[in-house]
Amino acid sequence: MTTEEHGRQSEEHGHQSIENGRHGHAGDGHGAYDPSMLQRADAFYGGVYQEICDWLSISPGAHALEAGSGAGGFTELLAGAVGNGGTVAALDVTPELLQTARERVQKSLFQDRVTYHEGDIEHLPFDDGHFDLVWSSRTVHHLSDQLAGVKELRRVLKPGGRLALREGGLRSRFLPNDIGIGAPGLEDRLDAAFEAWFHTHVRGGEGVVAYPFGWTQLLRDAGLTNVTARSFMLEVLPPLQTLEVEFMTNLLRRWVESEERRGFIGDEDAESINKLIDPDDSQYAFNRSDLHYMEGVTIYLGTA
Ligand SMILES: C[S@@+](CC[C@H](N)C(=O)[O-])C[C@H]1O[C@@H](n2cnc3c(N)ncnc32)[C@H](O)[C@@H]1O
Repeated sequence: MTTEEHGRQSEEHGHQSIENGRHGHAGDGHGAYDPSMLQRADAFYGGVYQEICDWLSISPGAHALEAGSGAGGFTELLAGAVGNGGTVAALDVTPELLQTARERVQKSLFQDRVTYHEGDIEHLPFDDGHFDLVWSSRTVHHLSDQLAGVKELRRVLKPGGRLALREGGLRSRFLPNDIGIGAPGLEDRLDAAFEAWFHTHVRGGEGVVAYPFGWTQLLRDAGLTNVTARSFMLEVLPPLQTLEVEFMTNLLRRWVESEERRGFIGDEDAESINKLIDPDDSQYAFNRSDLHYMEGVTIYLGTA
């Protein structure tokens, strides 16, 4: 989860298969998202999500859309924030995830405020000018045509309504630069490998429309105004909880377990990673007391 374009190098892309161009979308096509991984991310980012939701200052009675609702962690926060009389439409193209989100929200106090919609951001099943807020996290970069997708998200906003995208961000780090095995700078090399992988497997392939500009420009090009950005720092220090260890382990493990990713790193780095994630190895990362996870989670905001 976390860096990626920043935020992009988040666990989000941990276990996905590559299906470039499937259904006309960028790689990591529909059906490739692992619900348990997204649930783990919801738990890992829970505190930051609450900060973001508070920062959005959602008016009581607001009508919100979450586009690409995933495992439903943010859906539940939105449902609390819109208050009585407010509504949240959770939309996702993956039926299994919509069900995961539904099961989560149904356990909350706010279940009556949420409706579920299987659908595609590029063809939203809503009238023009319907929502006060559209929230979309780590989803737009999966669209084959990001600009067309953001225009469609804008279409369903009321005049004065706001679009908030979680994209980009500052890449996550949690290891010291020199871990004493292999060459220093492992995470820098993984960042470079991530970019190469991402531009080959997610934003490469047939049908993917290049958009060589930043997220603020994307919002402006889609017709939004008052475009701004805010980043929320997530820092985690030992002692780590089991969930945090699992999350960070997966950030490393995917480079050695995913065949498609393995080709983007060298043998020495693969060997280091295998030691770092093996609890029986003397170099096991999570016996170290000098880990420091940090990531900047960025939200881009614009007004219709
Ligand atoms: C990486 S996950 C992010 C989930 C959640 N928003 C989060 O931040 O954890 C991307 C989500 O977008 C959904 N998705 C991908 N393409 C979509 C599209 N064209 N329309 C609607 N949902 C889409 C996926 O099914 C998945 O739930």
